[in-house]
This record gives sequence, structure tokens and C-alpha cells, in this order.
Amino acid sequence: MGDVTFVHGSGEALPFADASFDLAISEYGVCLWCDPYRWVPEAARVLRPGGELIFLTNGLLSVLCMDEAGTATTTTLHRPLFGLRAQEWPDDDGDDSVEFHLPHGEWIRLLHEHGLQVERLTELRAPEVRDHAIRLRERQLGAQLAQRGNLGGAQGRWRLIAVR
Ligand SMILES: C[S@@+](CC[C@H](N)C(=O)[O-])C[C@H]1O[C@@H](n2cnc3c(N)ncnc32)[C@H](O)[C@@H]1O
Repeated sequence: MGDVTFVHGSGEALPFADASFDLAISEYGVCLWCDPYRWVPEAARVLRPGGELIFLTNGLLSVLCMDEAGTATTTTLHRPLFGLRAQEWPDDDGDDSVEFHLPHGEWIRLLHEHGLQVERLTELRAPEVRDHAIRLRERQLGAQLAQRGNLGGAQGRWRLIAVR
């Protein structure tokens, strides 16, 4: 690729000057794996006035209804909405992971605090992804479990666009 430069760094401490980008985008990356109270100020800092932040992450309801092992979305609430922030998922190999999620209202408050105005919040549900996830889950867990509401990766996502 011609004029593209790749820089290795953390979304919580971007190695870039203030107001140096027109667009910051995270598709299931920094917006999920970094602490929002660290990455949102950083994204706001590096955007120029009028610059756009776009990010896509897991559906909020799916996070609340994900079982304790983090393997299947259920039809039961497993954790409270309020106080949601760092969500730890255990891993059999000892390679535990931490994701970050906030209630939608808290995302909007945090973005505003850092000078970002929300233009659009879109809840997505792609049918082909959902059907594929159900088939995969049926193969992994058996049809009976899948029918009870364990739809695996079929939890949907949401995307937010904010402008500085
Ligand atoms: C599921 S992938 C998504 C990739 C993304 N769609 C993209 O285009 O780069 C998750 C990405 O988040 C990145 N990531 C995780 N923690 C990060 C951090 N603290 N700072 C920057 N990137 C991070 C990983 O390196 C990985 O590339």
C-alpha cells in the first residue's frame, strides 16, 4: 500500500500529536479491548475539530446475557447494567481476557465530556452472520442447546459515529 504508515502502539496512549487526524476508527479493536476512560480522551485528543470517530463493538444486551464462561449468549441476564465496565472472561488455557463495555448512556456522557458529539448510534443485526452463528453453535453444542437460546456469536453489534 502506497502512503500508509503502520505504527505499533496502545490505544490508551496514542503516539500521535494533538489534532492530527480527520478520522479515528475502531472495528472491534481498541473500543473493546481498551479502557474507555483512557481511549476516548486519546481519540478526542488526536482528532482535528470536525474530525470523526467511528467504532463498532458487541451488543449491550448480549454482554449482559453472556454466560459466565463467555461462550454463549443466553436468554437470562447474567450481570447488572449499572457498574458495567471491565468484563473478565475466563479461559481454560489460563489465557483470561478482559473486554470493556459501558451502558449506552455512559458512552454518550463520556464522549460529550471529551468534546465528541454523537451523530448516530446504530444497533446492527446482520441476518447472515446470525444464521451462520446458529449453525456453528448447533454443531458445537447440539441442536437442543442452540434452540434454548444459546446463539453463540449471534448477539449483534452496535456502531457509533461521533464528531469533534
Ligand atoms: C478482533 S481484532 C480487530 C481488528 C480491527 N478490526 C482492525 O482493523 O485492526 C482486535 C485488535 O485489537 C488490537 N488491540 C488490542 N488491545 C489493544 C490496545 N491496547 N491498543 C491498540 N490495539 C489493541 C489487537 O492488536 C487486534 O488487532
